[in-house]
Amino acid sequence: MIRLGVNIDHVATVRQVRRAQEPDPVAAAVLALLGGADGITVHLREDRRHIQHRDVCILRQVVTSRLNLELSVAAEIVGIACKVKPDEATLVPERREELTTEGGLDVVLHQKAVAGAMEKLKAAGIAISLFVDPDIRQIEMAKILGSTAVEIQTARYSEAKSAADRDRELSALSTAAEFARQHNLHVHLGHGLNYENVRHVVNIPGVEELNIGHAIVSRAVLVGMERAVREMKDAIREGR
Ligand code: PXP
Repeated sequence: MIRLGVNIDHVATVRQVRRAQEPDPVAAAVLALLGGADGITVHLREDRRHIQHRDVCILRQVVTSRLNLELSVAAEIVGIACKVKPDEATLVPERREELTTEGGLDVVLHQKAVAGAMEKLKAAGIAISLFVDPDIRQIEMAKILGSTAVEIQTARYSEAKSAADRDRELSALSTAAEFARQHNLHVHLGHGLNYENVRHVVNIPGVEELNIGHAIVSRAVLVGMERAVREMKDAIREGR
C-alpha cells in the first residue's frame, strides 16, 4: 500500500496567526499517526510562518516512524536539518511572497546550490527527495545529483479544470513516474491532492508515497485529525 505522509504545517499556521501555544502540531502528529499516517511531513520555512525550530526538534523525538522535513537550500535550514536528522529531507523551492510552494524546484537551473545542500544532508546520513515538476530533464538531473527519491508535483494535475486537462496531467505524471523508476529513484507525489483527486493518482505504477496537507488539515478542523487521516487512507485504498 502507498504510504501517506501527513503534512501538518497548517496546524502550526493556526497557532502562528495568534502567536499562541495552541494548536500544537506535535499533538496533531500523534493523532495523525493514530489515524494511520505512515509518516509526518513538515516544512521549516526561512520566514517561520508556520512550523518552528522547536516543532521540528520535538517531532523528531515523537515521530518514530517516518519524519520528512521539507526545506529550501538555504544554509541555515540545511544546518538545522543536519542536526535534527529527519528520516528524509525534501528540497523545495521557496519564495517569501508565495502562499504555498509554487511548482517544483528547478534542479537543472539551481544544480550547484542543490548539490551543495545535498552533500551536507547526505553527510548527516539523511535520505534526500527532490520536489520537481513532472519533467524528464528534472528527473534526469535528480538522478545525476544522486537523489534517493523524487517528489513529483501534482499541482497542475490538481488544478485541472476539465476531464481532458486532468487526463493529460495524469499521463504526464505517469510518464515522469515511470522514468524515475527506470532510474531507480523512489517516487513520491504531492501538492494539492484531496479526497477526490487522490483516487486517480494511486493507480500510477511505481508511486510509493503521497504527501498531503491542506485537504487533511481542513477536514480535521471539522471531524478531528484521526478521522480525517483514516478517511484519506480509505480513499487511497479504494482508488486502488
Ligand atoms: N509536498 C510538498 C513538497 C509541499 O511543499 C507541500 C505543501 O507544503 C505538500 C506536498 C502538501 O501540499 P498540500 O498542502 O496542497 O496537500
